[in-house]
Amino acid sequence: MKPKPAAAPEGANPLANAGGSIVPRHVAIIMDGNGRWAAQRGLPRVAGHRAGAEAVRKTLRAAAECGVDTLTLYAFSSENWRRPEGEISDLKGLLGYYLERELNLLAKEGVRLKLIGDYAAFGPDLVERLEKAIERLAENSRLTLVVALNYGSRTEIADAARTLARKAKAGTLDPDSIDEGALGAELQTAGLPELDLLIRTSGEVRLSNFLLWQAAYAEMLFTPVLWPDFDETQFKAAVAEFAARQRRFGGR
Ligand code: FPP
Repeated sequence: MKPKPAAAPEGANPLANAGGSIVPRHVAIIMDGNGRWAAQRGLPRVAGHRAGAEAVRKTLRAAAECGVDTLTLYAFSSENWRRPEGEISDLKGLLGYYLERELNLLAKEGVRLKLIGDYAAFGPDLVERLEKAIERLAENSRLTLVVALNYGSRTEIADAARTLARKAKAGTLDPDSIDEGALGAELQTAGLPELDLLIRTSGEVRLSNFLLWQAAYAEMLFTPVLWPDFDETQFKAAVAEFAARQRRFGGR
């Protein structure tokens, strides 16, 4: 028997795809384990990140095929600046390279691009390329790819709180009207569907400051698979696991 979704908060209803199975509308992934994958093979870390970029391409294709609406990827956290300069530069280079190489494919696949996080920190060159890509893909609607770059969830929530406080101080917002919806509307994910499924690879079982607010009702899936080994099969298995879970949203 197919599991039925419980009554969901507004915007969180899993969709039934053409085959009638339940598909998470919004999936987020903490892509972890590139370094360990490289170390296991005696390769430099950058080789792990390169293989990780290939896993992004496979995952994106699988998400589009499954009928997922939004895929959010944690590509660079605000804590990642603590990494050696060389590795940061490798990651930036890879992002620019991937963008250039995949742009036509993203356009053809109907992918729209959105960024969350303070990506200005990546410098004017990469920012310009990222913004051009966003513009080029703006009219697409098959799948929204959200890339989190220099993102930290606590900062995002604090920024939203500050915006609300400023509006209240200016007299344009009644403090008593501030509710979950008002705060959610100031987050960088405003307008995206409610997060349904959060995946973390590499066996680590923590959120690492990723989408803390948005994950309130999300199903969590932690897999030992290292990110470079994640592919279409892994993604489809995660979607099947999601469909098999009974979602209760705090009810019975
Ligand atoms: C975590 O592995 C991975 C990252 C910090 C970067 C993720 C980046 C990519 C997959 C490359 C390209 C991204 C896009 C969107 C094209 P880790 O280095 O923390 O691995 P470890 O924990 O095994 O050391």
